[in-house]
Amino acid sequence: MQKKVSKVQTLKGSVEIPADKSISHRAVIFATLAKGKSVIKNFSTGQDPKSSLEVCSLLGVEAELCNSTLTINSTGKLSPSAQSIYPCGNSGTTMRLMAGILAGQKFNSTLTGDESLSSRPMKRIIEPLTLMGAQIEANDFKAPLFITGHELHAINYQSKLSSAQVKSCILLAGLGCDDVTKFTEPFISRNHTEIMLKSMGADICTEGTTVSIKKSELNPISMTIPGDISSAAYFIAAGLIVPDSKITLRNVGLNPTRTGILEVIKSMGANFRILNQKEVCGEIVGDIEIQHSQLKACKISGNLIPKLIDEIPIIAVLATQAEGETIISDAKDLRNKESDRITTVVTELKELGANIQETPDGMIIQGRTQLNGGVEVETYNDHRLAMSLYVAGLVCQKEILINGFEWVNISFPEFETKFEKLNPS
Ligand code: S3P
Repeated sequence: MQKKVSKVQTLKGSVEIPADKSISHRAVIFATLAKGKSVIKNFSTGQDPKSSLEVCSLLGVEAELCNSTLTINSTGKLSPSAQSIYPCGNSGTTMRLMAGILAGQKFNSTLTGDESLSSRPMKRIIEPLTLMGAQIEANDFKAPLFITGHELHAINYQSKLSSAQVKSCILLAGLGCDDVTKFTEPFISRNHTEIMLKSMGADICTEGTTVSIKKSELNPISMTIPGDISSAAYFIAAGLIVPDSKITLRNVGLNPTRTGILEVIKSMGANFRILNQKEVCGEIVGDIEIQHSQLKACKISGNLIPKLIDEIPIIAVLATQAEGETIISDAKDLRNKESDRITTVVTELKELGANIQETPDGMIIQGRTQLNGGVEVETYNDHRLAMSLYVAGLVCQKEILINGFEWVNISFPEFETKFEKLNPS
């Protein structure tokens, strides 16, 4: 689907931010492992969490999605489907978390993905799972993953990557092991798995960047999923760069392992406030009020990267409108996302007129540039690129055409409708 985007005069109003994708995945997967009835309110409408729901349903769990409330009735035990093939679609989180669970079952399974997911690296989970005794076959460490169910044993794993998907995979595998499984990462990545497993009664604790887990039975959960800061990020950026804007983003998850974008806009000199902060099911939630601001460039690297990994495409758009040189480094893993986000972001923003250069582990952006537009841009089947280009289009001088805009449905089907409500023209 091709989307036309043209310059807007201003953005005003308030937006309810839809459910967090990462937390939605975990809620459905962990509820499947718990014996009893779990009720998950405000389950994400994105395609990715639906992939997790589909895989869990194929594994025998009873699930009912009514409006946005997901009810799961589980025996706490998985039973294989007739074909034993579990399609994960575009979702890396589904594949990596499920691999950690399926590796330790008494049956065999195959995890498949779409073209993009089948080209993403799985060595990062196959290696540690193999150390735990798992048997996984894959061509060049890429999906499909053929898993022969096997008893697993605990490990003490030092990961070279800071990755919540890898961490969650190993913790889920460790949940069934007799001894203590320990996972250490260089910098802390999102900790929704730790928070949710703990609230479900798992024996799990965190010390610095090490998480330890022991064999545990999970209790069912009753929870409301907070809004996704990764979806809020597009409104944050648009509110900052579209002239005279003032918008309020309601119900945004503010877990400190996810709020890197707020640290960045603060150092860029953005005018924003957090309101109505509270805790919901162990996660911090609040509203963000944001206003058009004169931005200055900043440096983004090190332990900040995992806290904003999915926001780098939209931060790159912001940086084109900030005075000075923004340098993003230590973000090599961006090349392994739904697209190679270093190359795709740089290529497409250059097309719009940005002064941006690729580096091996990030990018350098010189601002402030008036984006010209007047061109067609590509999404490379990547939802975050589609949404970032849309926001860039709001400040381009001439209309732009985005090819493959339908990919927004992976995380945020309501994206455009929500934007249109803020634009009075
Ligand atoms: C996710 C973790 C991140 C992120 C992805 C979702 C998760 O990946 O990029 O969109 O839900 O755990 P990594 O942990 O592999 O960096």
